[in-house]
Amino acid sequence: IKPKPTIFMIFGGTGDLAERKLIPALYNLFLEKYMPKEFAIIGLGRTEYNDDSFKKLLLGGVNKFSRSGKADKDKWADFSKHITYLKSDVNNEADYKKMSDVIEKCEKDWSEPPIIIHYLAVAPKFFPIIAGNLAKVKLADDTDRTRIVIEKPFGHDLQSAKELNALLKGIFAETQIYRIDHYLGKETVQNMLAFRFANALFEPIWNRNFIEHVQISVTEDIGVEDRGGYYDGSGALRDMVQNHILQVLCLVAMEPPVNFDAEEIRNRKVDVLRAMRQFGPDEVRFNTVRGQYSEGWVKGEKVEGYREEKGVDPESNTETFAALKFFIDNWRWQNVPFYVRTGKRMHQKASIISIQFKDVPHLIFPNQSSESWQQNRLIISIQPEMSIRLQVQAKRPGLDMTLNPVDMVFNYDGTYETDTPEAYETLLLDAMKGDQTLFMRGDQVETAWDLIMPVLENWESKKSISFPNYSADSWGPETAEALIAKDGFHWFTMP
Ligand code: BG6
Repeated sequence: IKPKPTIFMIFGGTGDLAERKLIPALYNLFLEKYMPKEFAIIGLGRTEYNDDSFKKLLLGGVNKFSRSGKADKDKWADFSKHITYLKSDVNNEADYKKMSDVIEKCEKDWSEPPIIIHYLAVAPKFFPIIAGNLAKVKLADDTDRTRIVIEKPFGHDLQSAKELNALLKGIFAETQIYRIDHYLGKETVQNMLAFRFANALFEPIWNRNFIEHVQISVTEDIGVEDRGGYYDGSGALRDMVQNHILQVLCLVAMEPPVNFDAEEIRNRKVDVLRAMRQFGPDEVRFNTVRGQYSEGWVKGEKVEGYREEKGVDPESNTETFAALKFFIDNWRWQNVPFYVRTGKRMHQKASIISIQFKDVPHLIFPNQSSESWQQNRLIISIQPEMSIRLQVQAKRPGLDMTLNPVDMVFNYDGTYETDTPEAYETLLLDAMKGDQTLFMRGDQVETAWDLIMPVLENWESKKSISFPNYSADSWGPETAEALIAKDGFHWFTMP
């Protein structure tokens, strides 16, 4: 079903996100005929542009970042007819009046009243100002047609997240607020729901009786690139764990929902966060590890250490790596450790969920070397490989009974011919259609902050750590291996 006529008001229209993600996503939705016939994209920003120069900027972004490659001349011409630029300052109330005029014009000319999406692709300090001004000019109060999309970071800690929620909820209904976590738009992450709840096979064993431990590992090979200024005030725990990793963990651990309604799915996810064991000082000490990368060599090229990156304090104690051991105190997961880790400048870019099942109760095969023995494991690779593999033991062909682990693999490449949509395509389409399933609800965000606050506070109060403590192109600090090895496990890495 096509969405209704829609106006996208993109605050931060000339910024990185619009150029790299939002416009390429909208363009691909247009190519694949998901855009409504009547739509408008209004770029908002302080920089001096006219419609033509703005479109040129965006075309550059599409050519560089779109999954469909360089834009086709005619198709881009058709698409870009819908784009205009409105020079405006988020602090200036009069500029919001100009926005209202544009919206009114569409309302007059179009066949039906449009959905209006205010997309805040700006720094968080502008969220309150924009929301407040939208309210003043009455661009917020149609609860059916007006929506606001908020990019991360949603708050800097629990207190600021609560304040932002309170402010937004004073202006918008929760059904109008779309908090983005782009991981939820990833195809392989969405597939978790299908995998778990459309197959009868796994649910009976998806619990503490059969699962020994779970790992969620999101490693990146890049450093902080040109985002040092933002990142240095954030760190890996805020940047990746509080949002993306905990959201993925919820999908792994949630109870079966009764239907596919946004509220139902989000309720089940919040249940997981609420059941997660709080960290006391001992848990922070024994169950968490932080790291920061030093210089090193990546593919034959020298790269700088974190403290030498642009925008970063040369004595920074911000973590670029975090590993934590979580527990979920409910019937399904009691005493099953969930190990998570994330880091920049690591040896491999890979986002993986690994579920290790308990060992066989009794081994009948003689002479099995422990190296070749691998308990059953389910590996869900989110990216860059998009696959699900089940590791089982099999008999190696030959005259003796030797076993070795083999993989039963479902790989997206080779199974599907269609190109996979980008997370932002899914999320923007859902925002147009009014489907909040893949967006974070206010209480979800706050519960996730609540969970990590003791770790953040503890880390911030203890500055005497010897950073940097892992070199670029490594697997993170040695203590991260120790965190999991002391329980007898190892971090799973893709072959
Ligand atoms: C962002 C973080 O939310 O996610 C970045 O701010 C990180 O630091 C990025 O690099 C990772 O996203 P992806 O889609 O490349 O795995």
